Amino acid sequence: MSYIKFAKWIRPKKDYGEACPIYKCEFEAKKQVKSAVLEITAMGVYEAHINGERIGDFIMAPGWTAYDKRHQYQSYDITDKLKSGNEITVTVGKGWYRGDLVIWRDNNIWGTVPAIIAAITLVYDDGTEEIISTDKKWKVAESPIRFSQIYDGETYDATYKLDEWEDAVYYYGTTLNLIPQEGEIVREMEHIKPLGMLVTPKGERVIDFGQNMTGYVTFKVDGRKGDKIVYSHAETLDFDGNFYTANLRSAKQRVEYICRDGVQEYKPHHSFMGFRYIRLDDAPDYVNEDMFEAIVVHSDIKRTGYFECSHEKLNKLYQNIVWGQRGNFLDIPTDCPQRDERLGWTADAQVFVKTASYNYDVQKFFEKWLKDLAAEQHNNGAVGNVVPDVLYDFTPATGWGDAATICPWQIYLTYGEKTVLENQIDSMIGWVEFMHSRGEEEFLWCGDEQMGDWLALDAPEGTNTGASDTDLIASAYFALSTEIVAKALKVLGRDNSKYEEMHKRIVSAYRERFKEYKTQTECAVSLMFNLAENRDEVAEKLADLVKKNGNKITTGFLGTPYIMDALSENGYEDVAYSLLLQEEYPSWLFSVNMGATTVWEHWDSMRADGTMWHTGMNSFNHYAYGCVGSWMYETICGIKLDEENPGFERIVICPKPDKRLKWAKASIESRFGTIKSGWEFTGDEVVYEFELPRPARVEIGNKTFELGAGKYTYKF
Ligand code: BGC
Repeated sequence: MSYIKFAKWIRPKKDYGEACPIYKCEFEAKKQVKSAVLEITAMGVYEAHINGERIGDFIMAPGWTAYDKRHQYQSYDITDKLKSGNEITVTVGKGWYRGDLVIWRDNNIWGTVPAIIAAITLVYDDGTEEIISTDKKWKVAESPIRFSQIYDGETYDATYKLDEWEDAVYYYGTTLNLIPQEGEIVREMEHIKPLGMLVTPKGERVIDFGQNMTGYVTFKVDGRKGDKIVYSHAETLDFDGNFYTANLRSAKQRVEYICRDGVQEYKPHHSFMGFRYIRLDDAPDYVNEDMFEAIVVHSDIKRTGYFECSHEKLNKLYQNIVWGQRGNFLDIPTDCPQRDERLGWTADAQVFVKTASYNYDVQKFFEKWLKDLAAEQHNNGAVGNVVPDVLYDFTPATGWGDAATICPWQIYLTYGEKTVLENQIDSMIGWVEFMHSRGEEEFLWCGDEQMGDWLALDAPEGTNTGASDTDLIASAYFALSTEIVAKALKVLGRDNSKYEEMHKRIVSAYRERFKEYKTQTECAVSLMFNLAENRDEVAEKLADLVKKNGNKITTGFLGTPYIMDALSENGYEDVAYSLLLQEEYPSWLFSVNMGATTVWEHWDSMRADGTMWHTGMNSFNHYAYGCVGSWMYETICGIKLDEENPGFERIVICPKPDKRLKWAKASIESRFGTIKSGWEFTGDEVVYEFELPRPARVEIGNKTFELGAGKYTYKF
């Protein structure tokens, strides 16, 4: 039985300004306790302790949701932590709830007070229960956390005396929106020791952790009272080797710690940063790099996919893609983890969802986020460009709103469970109906302002939208989403005739209106969404466009997820491989050559001459272009889903070896067991090896085998 909904919110009487409050509740169990559970959440992010020991290990609890509609609480078993007299303390940071968000730094988006609500349920041995809920007997004071914000970091004063406790007062917030924890919790997942300290040409003392990541730094120091240890975080050094923070825009990512006497350890409580380097801005001489360690923080999702091949740079790219996912799966899928943004941009999530779902088990993660997407969807079906929606006044955009259909469909395909479709179907239909209602032509989406093929390299100077016709892209995604809705309704056993018919009408309207495809993206989406009438011609055109461009890519966010498949599924695997193995700018491996350890936002985030893309929007940890990861699993190693038997209940294996690689292997742990597929050139022959937990159709060249579960080796 959950009691938190019957509890009351409490808050400090005074405004503590930037200081984080600490709440305190002292209680004694009256009889022998059989079990004790703490249910708790906050208007902000909280960390709770009992008798000095941390409760749970959820970083940035209660996570990020559309709080006004869905506010998660967590339940912790504290039975083993109870003593005769107990003290629970809770600190609350501003978090997403009240802290600055978005480049223009909106704050207090969901509320203005750092309130908490909690219920401790003690079940005694004799079967009776006692509930201790947040009330005016709880005390509250300013804590040593003097400042804490997501973008700006934290200030902690270890000399601060906790003595001014006051009684908490009630805050009349609702409990109707409280929901139990849904997604995986965010945890400290890995510790990384520094590679070393360097002194930059500017004379800055910089510690390099060797990997761009998301999380924070911890240190242990034998300090002197009043000494300050201040450090800032950055993703990269500039061309001259100096610490580079211009791309963070206004985000300070700075930690300030004031020491007490003696040995002490610290790590931020309510903030996280995107970084590879820290710069010691102020620190006594006794501080050195050996005292520091980086801690990687992300949602505790289970790793399921692996890829490796004979090409070291491709392996590095794959690792960078996985790091991009780690860095941006912190309770919600974000665009980036470092600058004053870190938002749930919907296009970014939909272009990456397939790769994400092979790398890790992200079913619960997406189910939670998609419920927020649906909860915030407008009455006319419009979907936010970010979820949770902190932009309010936005122009619904093709490729962004389609997260409403593409994400649930992919989660269904990868894991084979209908729940996500059941949860999302109204939202999916809503988005399609929104597109249907736009523009003068009923079966196209034309005339609206769009973000289009975002950051495509064929963009006219000074714009981000790419050269592809935005009406064409919008109509193509309208077709795709409508087709997905028709398929989803069929899976759910519901009448889908309306959307099948609508899809047909969109396809004919598209063919009528868009007869020529002039960019890589226009060709790719027309092929992959089955819109192009003369597939062979369009595929040839796409291959030509790529070749004429020196085997270089020009696509942006909306074309990149499709260009590789559009080539390889239409007889141009070799051209797709050329794109993937291209090392000159623009290409995936260009960033690897430039020393990237995560995927960049722009093909040219850092240029060969060391200059940077405009500071206004230049993240070095943006997973969107990491969507090419799915091609490594699906095409290089050939592990594919069968739409009719999703979740890999039935497997399709059709690897496409290319001599530029000597060997490749991949594995995906599906709900039915681990699928493995690999190949190796031995002279002119290729040895294929498969491990199949379920029956599969295996296609090698023009040969097809229907195989049962088992291990197989073939040589051709
Ligand atoms: C984000 C993107 C996002 C875009 C759309 C950017 O600032 O980082 O990844 O999709 O804005 O406007």
